[in-house]
Amino acid sequence: MPSGGRPWWQRALLYQVYVRSFADSDGDGVGDLRGIVQRLDYLDWLGVDALWLSPVTVSPDKDWGYDVADYTDVQPVLGGMAALDELVAEASARGIEVIVDLVPNHTSDRHPWFEEARSSREARHRDWYVWADPTPDGSPPNNWRNSFGGGPAWTLDEATGQYYLHNFLPEQPDLNWWNGDVRDAFDEILRFWLDRGIAGFRIDVAHGIVKDRQLRNNPDPAVSTYNANRDDVHDVFRHWRRLVDGYRPERVLLGETWVMELDRLARFYGNGEDELHLAFNFPFALSPLDADVLRGIVEATEAALPERAWPVWMLSNHDLARFPTRMCGGDERKARAALFLLLTLRGTPVLYYGDELGMPQARVPPEQERDMAGRDGARTPMPWNGGWTNPWLPLAAQVAPAATQRDDDGSFLCFCRGLIARRRSSIDLREGLYETLSAPAGVWAFRRGEHTAVAVNLSDEPAEIDLDGRRELAPWDGIVADV
Ligand code: GLC
Repeated sequence: MPSGGRPWWQRALLYQVYVRSFADSDGDGVGDLRGIVQRLDYLDWLGVDALWLSPVTVSPDKDWGYDVADYTDVQPVLGGMAALDELVAEASARGIEVIVDLVPNHTSDRHPWFEEARSSREARHRDWYVWADPTPDGSPPNNWRNSFGGGPAWTLDEATGQYYLHNFLPEQPDLNWWNGDVRDAFDEILRFWLDRGIAGFRIDVAHGIVKDRQLRNNPDPAVSTYNANRDDVHDVFRHWRRLVDGYRPERVLLGETWVMELDRLARFYGNGEDELHLAFNFPFALSPLDADVLRGIVEATEAALPERAWPVWMLSNHDLARFPTRMCGGDERKARAALFLLLTLRGTPVLYYGDELGMPQARVPPEQERDMAGRDGARTPMPWNGGWTNPWLPLAAQVAPAATQRDDDGSFLCFCRGLIARRRSSIDLREGLYETLSAPAGVWAFRRGEHTAVAVNLSDEPAEIDLDGRRELAPWDGIVADV
């Protein structure tokens, strides 16, 4: 845990581990928690302060862990609870925190709550899910669509004659957050993990867990006006913030806040101290690598966030195509420039495993696809230089493995590690305020804190900029200057 004036999660570099693909300790082709333990020295060497683990809870894996059948136990293939406890202890010995994924929007249809709920209309857990009668012609209760394929967000349960809501797969029934018992159950789940020494939660579908109570039709069926994005969700986060604030050392709530309007994003921070600690910025992650566009997003974010709120930036995750391909067209110079920005802006940076290697999106042949939504190309095994036999997804790395890059000072990995070290050693880069500086077209320049200026050339032309004197900037190059 880094020390100093700001809370650890503001000073930290976070690293997202897609557990099934990070490191395999037992040779079954699936990455696991003991595999992460074996790679902790690497993560420590890189300069990682906290891990966010993709879901490790028990799941039939229709959506690879995001369909939870037991919120308080660990998936056997990932190593079970003993392996998680071992990881938390071993990580902690190196000053690394562990954050877990929490999926409150929906359960698996194999969760005992849902199995009981669908047994009859009078079932004890019936109202823990969202049920509604068919319309007179037998069709779904309203026009809500699911996010996987865009079909109806409703499936008819033949036995009890009602539809249940699922914003994702039919095997992922949505919980009813208007039911107080659901809220109480999640309080217990949060406490269960916090009591085990977990440093916080990445909250899946944070923007979407509360739905319109009256199940109104979306005015535009393609826009989730009523089946997500309801203001009532803020009551839940205020309550969770009070709950986690009761714990020491400090814990963190990191939301998957998939909203494209920055003023809406800002609201997940509440007054800056009473809702989520961090809310993911999707407009930034999904931006083209363009100086004007990115600067505009960062300025608007800085302006929208409440005073004490702290931004969080990422370029890749398990749902998006990897940034070196999506944002940078496979050009390594551009990928270095994007990473340079990630690690010099004000806010907590989050690396997705493999980002530090410049790992591009993989092409997974159709017969080897495992994800129903086509996201495998961002989830292939981490290239260590060995360590995988018959991995669950092909080892598709078109990039030098970590071990090779580690020995090469000019590698993407060493570039990334150097930036992390620079950030760690500079209070301005870690904590300083952001202020845009004037810069020629294609260049983005900003001040950080008292004495630091950053400039990055996001163009194919060489540029000149005056920071601590006139400086040449090669295409796609960045500089940090003392001013
Ligand atoms: C989130 C997850 C994604 C999952 C979806 C449904 O968006 O990041 O992987 O498929 O929620 O749980």
